[in-house]
Amino acid sequence: MAPRSPIITVMTQAAYKAARGLTRDFGEIEKLQVSKKGPDDFVTNADLKAKKVLRYELSRARPGFGFLLEEAGAIAGDDESRRWIVDPLDGTLNFMHGIPHFAISIGLEQNGELVAGLIYDPLRDELFHAEKGTGAYLNNHRLRVSSRSKLADAVIATGITWHGRERHESYPAELEAVTAKCAAVRRLGSAALDLAYVAAGRYEAFWEPALSPWDIAAGLIIVREAGGYVTEIDGGANPLGSGDVLAANDRLHRPLTVLLKAAAKG
Ligand code: IPD
Ligand code: CA
Ligand code: CA
Repeated sequence: MAPRSPIITVMTQAAYKAARGLTRDFGEIEKLQVSKKGPDDFVTNADLKAKKVLRYELSRARPGFGFLLEEAGAIAGDDESRRWIVDPLDGTLNFMHGIPHFAISIGLEQNGELVAGLIYDPLRDELFHAEKGTGAYLNNHRLRVSSRSKLADAVIATGITWHGRERHESYPAELEAVTAKCAAVRRLGSAALDLAYVAAGRYEAFWEPALSPWDIAAGLIIVREAGGYVTEIDGGANPLGSGDVLAANDRLHRPLTVLLKAAAKG
């Protein structure tokens, strides 16, 4: 069993506290208050309560760190070198519909580089976490991406983008190409858990365009520390900046980049 470092312990405790409220609210979704932020973009009082708990707990443990928080935006800290990148509830639409698949996602950036990540699925009590250079874990077990090397055997996760979002035009062709070549495509509705599942070897890969930093910050480092590769969908080096993500095991990342690029060109 790997001992958890002080920073992972801080992140774990904050996630557990926020998760208690989410689990309670999920049991009473008929009381959920929902507001619409845009097409296919909702916020509930459960998101807002979880955001408040996470901000309070993380600030209490590390007072100087800044934040980039969904539902609050960027908040500068005294320590300009470090900031938390937090999605208090990834999978809001699932949550609102009573679909038991959502998570809390907490990434930590230092001098512009991701150094730690944690994704917690409260209903399954699955805690995925990683720190730079020390590997990725699910609860206390070391994670490793899958070793499947053939597209025909691969289960690939995705997010189906809504009309009007950037890169929407090439998405149907990408989906068609992946569906034709791979064993199956899954769309479960939480980008954070999609990345965690790539790290855990449950999926061979995940791709989705136009995500936000809080959807993916934790997942990017968890996949990399599990031995996977993460780039932009066209192979570019800045998925956190652009929000276009292709995460895959080490064997399938290249063939998928080639496949997706060709599909996008048409
Ligand atoms: C969403 C989920 C979903 C992805 C969307 C995200 P939210 O996050 O990660 O899987 O397809 O693009 O916005 O809104 O539930 O935090
Ligand atoms: Ca999200
Ligand atoms: Ca969210």
